[in-house]
Amino acid sequence: PIDERVDDLLRRMTVEEKIGQMLQLDARDDLDDHVLRRHVGSILHTSPERIVRANELTDQTRLRIPLLVGEDCIHGHSFWPGATIFPTQLGMAASWDADLVERVARATAVEVSATGIHWTFSPVLCIARDLRWGRVDETFGEDPVLIGELASAMVRGYQGDGLDDSTAILATAKHFAGYSETQGGRDASEADISRRKLRSWFLPPFERVAREGCRTFMLGYQTMDGVPITTNDWLLSDVLRGEWAYTGTLITDWDNIGRMVWEQRVQPDYAHAAAAAVLAGNDMVMTTPRFFEGALEAVRIGLLAEDAFDAAVARILTLKFELGLFENPRLPADERDGVVGSAEHAALNLEVAQRSLVLLENDGVLPLAADRRLRLAVSGPLADDAQTQLGDWAGGSGQAGWLDGQPRDMITTVLDGLRGVDAWDVRYTRGADILTLEPDPAGPTFPDGQPRPPLLQPCVPDADLIADAVAEAQAADVAVVVVGDRIELVGEGRSTATLELIGGQNALLDAVIATGTPVVVVLLASKPLVLPSSVSSAAAVIWAANPGMQGGRALADLVSGAIEPTGRLPISFARHAGQQPTYYNQIRGQHGDRYADLTQAPAWAFGEGLSYTTVEYGDVRLVHTELSEDDTIVAEVDVTNTGSRPTRETVQMYVRDEVTSASWADRELKTYRQVDVDPGETVTVRLELPVAECTIVDARERRVVEPGEFTLLVGPSSRIEELRAAAFTVVR
Ligand code: IFM
Repeated sequence: PIDERVDDLLRRMTVEEKIGQMLQLDARDDLDDHVLRRHVGSILHTSPERIVRANELTDQTRLRIPLLVGEDCIHGHSFWPGATIFPTQLGMAASWDADLVERVARATAVEVSATGIHWTFSPVLCIARDLRWGRVDETFGEDPVLIGELASAMVRGYQGDGLDDSTAILATAKHFAGYSETQGGRDASEADISRRKLRSWFLPPFERVAREGCRTFMLGYQTMDGVPITTNDWLLSDVLRGEWAYTGTLITDWDNIGRMVWEQRVQPDYAHAAAAAVLAGNDMVMTTPRFFEGALEAVRIGLLAEDAFDAAVARILTLKFELGLFENPRLPADERDGVVGSAEHAALNLEVAQRSLVLLENDGVLPLAADRRLRLAVSGPLADDAQTQLGDWAGGSGQAGWLDGQPRDMITTVLDGLRGVDAWDVRYTRGADILTLEPDPAGPTFPDGQPRPPLLQPCVPDADLIADAVAEAQAADVAVVVVGDRIELVGEGRSTATLELIGGQNALLDAVIATGTPVVVVLLASKPLVLPSSVSSAAAVIWAANPGMQGGRALADLVSGAIEPTGRLPISFARHAGQQPTYYNQIRGQHGDRYADLTQAPAWAFGEGLSYTTVEYGDVRLVHTELSEDDTIVAEVDVTNTGSRPTRETVQMYVRDEVTSASWADRELKTYRQVDVDPGETVTVRLELPVAECTIVDARERRVVEPGEFTLLVGPSSRIEELRAAAFTVVR
């Protein structure tokens, strides 16, 4: 049995070997030192050569404990030329389809496991709150229920039927917890967040995957109320290990131990920082090589007992035994070419990309007839930008030059996709630039030798580029303008102060829209951005997120009507960067809940998205209107396709607790169902919800159902004017 093997190994390990087992180090550094001197238990940021070398070194160690290999394969296998890159998590979330997300994760696991990697740092369960945050694209959006649903599916897909299956990989729920509650959207700032707020919105998705068996959790970076997340005893011990009885492994984020010393300045040295992290229950320490010396010193001066590492090491060894690494270290397989980037995965990728597109506006111009000779004027700096289309974590955090190793012919840009429609005569002009990268005058590296990122310089509108685009638009039947944000504006440490399109993009949109030619705006944007007012005169607007390798083909399918638009927003769009926050489930009844100079209504709300048909909702029928806490709410609603094209409707069910003992959101998504409805057809959709889920978190931080009056709201989006209401009462 695994327990006995773990105990036996643990008994034979020296304290140095135990401390090393808790370390995960960067495989791009000195592997000999990591393995032979620091006895490292895990590596990340690898390549096949580094994995093979690290294993050769491991074979030279006393106990030959295999390495765990981890990587950020968060929307496909992002670190392998020729592997499949799916739409970003936020893009996938627009499908609202847990089964599809599970299939994506399974395909990713198949590719990742074939390349010698055992562990992906995915999914991200952070709630997107401030749109200026650079990591909004990595989330499933703004709603805890949708996040929990999709994250649960992703974990299932990665971990498969059990870790002993050679295609199973470890999933990671990250970033535990509250990391996204940034100040001003700035990454990793102190999170101003109460325990009640954490329990209300941030913790539920984590609790769900913890209870369902997600094998690893990763911390965020932030401090909360003065305490670094790394030593937050309440969250790590009381909640995670205590209340949720989580038995999985907990890993820090990048150099969290060091940060307590050199950045947050809450620990005097590495011995104290290491001791604090171990005592708080961290199992694995990401990329703090000095944890090794610090922990040894902590033992020497009596901050830690020699057996202080045993629980953490036992958990890590258990994972290695469960994965079968002692018998088979799962090195990069020679036959990897068969599954990595396979045709089957490309077909799945196209399906996800199609489902991720959200049609936000359409005056009827779409779909364009694919069988008619049409002249299309395509412009915009992102129309042919393969790297941006793939999004962040595609070969490192937006690493420039990554495409050198990536077959360009695996990626269909928007321009490629539109050119693929035979009947269309597509003319392309760039129209605008976004930014240039200037070397930082302070030098190419930081004092510690890390590369210093270049300075971003927004481009000014270029009159000649715009004139070319305008001339083409004037001569065209339809203009397609592809705008958004470039990869340098997205990611960890890359939050933005503005949400507007930068460079020459607004000027391009203004000018092309002013031609009077119908304009389809394609927003290739990692997160909701703010569009200029001229877009209200555009004929159609599509949000494509970062749609992955097949994004251009999917977009062409949507524009040409080969597919129906079914994507729904997993996140609300702001009208202005200063309009934060815009998420739909804000606390109700705040006096002055709008600005003097702007409505608080979002530009497009959570749940919204158009079809090529029209759908009408009937009244909501409740089987019972008086229920107790043990009952299940059963509601039915008739959904009729009143247009002429088929559709897949996402029927959303929200609950409002009319009077609560502590302030609460006006409505919360509780469940949803996707149904296919043919033209003229009426489908009766049945929705069920245990009353036990109609909870709030009261002022004493308890999640409770408070008996009284409730309203069920059913409809096509979170917009109150689109929801059909039915009252019910919960009695004791
Ligand atoms: O997994 C990531 C995390 O999301 C942010 N910091 C670095 C980690 C490893 O690359």
